[in-house]
Amino acid sequence: MNPIYHRSTVDIMGDQPIITALNKALAWELRAIAMYAHYSAYVSGIHRPHLSAYFSNEVNESITHASTVRSAIVKLDGKAITERAPEEIIHTHDYSIMLEEAYKTEKIASGTYQSILPMIEELGDDELYDSLEVIYFDEMRSVEELRMMLK
Ligand SMILES: [Fe+2]
Ligand SMILES: [Fe+2]
Repeated sequence: MNPIYHRSTVDIMGDQPIITALNKALAWELRAIAMYAHYSAYVSGIHRPHLSAYFSNEVNESITHASTVRSAIVKLDGKAITERAPEEIIHTHDYSIMLEEAYKTEKIASGTYQSILPMIEELGDDELYDSLEVIYFDEMRSVEELRMMLK
């Protein structure tokens, strides 16, 4: 039988720019989970108590974001990636380096969601748009929070 008949919707949707963009966001959430869990464990010095809790909270937020993005990919019949974004996670005990790295990560995340929103809007799926807009606002809040922490 012609292999074309065996092509699933996943294969077809896998090439769509919106799936690629959502997978990029998912990869960054998976990286954020690893980065924040690492920093929560290693943060040292006088700021450890509240920063460890702060990073741990970011792990949970990133898990929630990853779950929402993955569900969006499933809804669009795409194939969700399972690997994190390959950008290095800097190992350190120094909280100021951790905050700088977190700031960079959150800026990339907010930019990624900002570029995804118009694509979702074009699809006309209000539920999907709302769920991703919520994530975008979370990332924007994180950028602002980290900016204040770095002052
Ligand atoms: Fe996130
Ligand atoms: Fe975030």
